[in-house]
Amino acid sequence: MLISSALAAAINTQIGNELAASLQYHQIAAHFHEMHLLQLAGLFHKQATEEREHAEKLLKYVLETGGGLRIPAVRAPMHVFPTAEAAVEAALSWEREVTGQIKGLMDLAASEGDYLAQGVLQWFVDEQLEEVTKMQRLLGVIRMAGERNLLSVEAYLVHGNA
Ligand code: FEO
Repeated sequence: MLISSALAAAINTQIGNELAASLQYHQIAAHFHEMHLLQLAGLFHKQATEEREHAEKLLKYVLETGGGLRIPAVRAPMHVFPTAEAAVEAALSWEREVTGQIKGLMDLAASEGDYLAQGVLQWFVDEQLEEVTKMQRLLGVIRMAGERNLLSVEAYLVHGNA
């Protein structure tokens, strides 16, 4: 076994967190789809796929190190958002939470001197910078446009900004 049971358990928990994020982003995508805001819907659909990939990366690592895969119960997503701003605020707050969770995994791997895990987790550390930045920027643009002017956010996204 190339992983401690404590780290394997923590990574199994994180697999559940990533799957929950995937479901949450699908639900946010649906919120925008129902408003006919298809660029925003597409952005969150893509984000949902990325979260599933994060879960799969961790899943593969636990399997390869012999840690024993134990996927936990996955939290149900929020279904309703009063505004676009609230939906993206939820996404940003989620990404900040995940950044803390990844830091916790990294702290554990470092305290165990597990360089293999630290190498894998560094990818997630870098990814979180990208994800938090993306949601911060999107929230800023939505606030600037206002709820009655979300079509300008769609135009912003059509031009490849996100
Ligand atoms: Fe997998 Fe958006 O954190």
